[in-house]
Amino acid sequence: MPEHKPIYILAIESSCDDTSAAILMNDKVLSNVVATQAIHEEYGGVVPELASRAHQQNIVPVVDQAIARANIDKKQLSAIAFTRGPGLMGSLLVGTSFAKSLSLGLDIPLIEVNHMKAHILAHFIADEKMTSPKFPFLALTISGGHTQVVQVNDYFEMKIIGQTLDDAVGEAFDKSAKILGLPYPGGPLIDKHAANGNPHKFEFPIPKVKDLDFSFSGLKTNILYFIQRNTKDNPNFINENLEDICASIQDTIIEILMRKLKKAVKQTGIKEVAIGGGVSANSGIRKALTDAQEKYGWKTYIPQFQYCTDNAAMIGIVGYHKFKNEIFSKQDITAQARYVIS
Ligand code: KG4
Ligand code: ZN
Repeated sequence: MPEHKPIYILAIESSCDDTSAAILMNDKVLSNVVATQAIHEEYGGVVPELASRAHQQNIVPVVDQAIARANIDKKQLSAIAFTRGPGLMGSLLVGTSFAKSLSLGLDIPLIEVNHMKAHILAHFIADEKMTSPKFPFLALTISGGHTQVVQVNDYFEMKIIGQTLDDAVGEAFDKSAKILGLPYPGGPLIDKHAANGNPHKFEFPIPKVKDLDFSFSGLKTNILYFIQRNTKDNPNFINENLEDICASIQDTIIEILMRKLKKAVKQTGIKEVAIGGGVSANSGIRKALTDAQEKYGWKTYIPQFQYCTDNAAMIGIVGYHKFKNEIFSKQDITAQARYVIS
């Protein structure tokens, strides 16, 4: 029966510094290969030129591996989904061009995907360790490039109701880590050191920002001045207090995020709350979200680690839903560095 035939999606993600390919059978992930580019570590941040070059090197082997691990044949593919944006133009162009060529070569539909929508819809990947939120829900997307509160009414109907006015929360983590002399990306390292620290040892001010918007650039400056002040008296200050500093920074960031989420729940009356994006791998924010279930009566949703940071499986789940609704892209589609959710 044709309606029971499984849909196989090849998904490609290349928006920043991870080259990833995944194969989904309907909403199930058969493979999800991620090649992380270590080259940026020595520069203390992503170098766009090097990122696109590394994508060029990685994309063919990563796609081959995803197909091999899924144990399917290219001929079985129903469609190719790819990240159109937002992201670094040079990086996006690699995935976009590859997806277009392969769709033409295999004569199967092409499906463009918004990366930020994918971070949200990652919650709909069929995984026994995850349950999917019910519409409408609130999604807090926290990554290296974005910080948004999104009201999600349906797979294809979303509205940004709050966002950062300057740095993204991932940048706040990474820039703070840099001030502490930790390598890029520093977010996971702050998380690691914070585990044994006292989150109330040092106080950093919570910025006052209107409505549901965020600001993180002031926090970075406060941390810089705090470190400069203290290392003047004691050059060993960071080493002696690293765990407490990391715990205090992390606690401040979580407090900023949770205050806005509480405001968003109050404003919308929606108590289904999901997080997504690289920073949702942070153990502190995961705990705060889990605690909010009992504390505030919310129903909260936290993705599996492998679907938090950039990955192609999340692109594939959007591809699957678009395929079912026959929302396809034309061959003249181009990458879009700035691509707002709508
Ligand atoms: O979503 P993502 O992989 O890439 C973007 O689309 O930006 O997010 C990357 C960001 C980086 O800033 C990284 O430091 C942060 O996510 N991140 C974390 C953790 N794991 C990744 N931040 C805090 N704690 C973590 N455990
Ligand atoms: Zn991302």
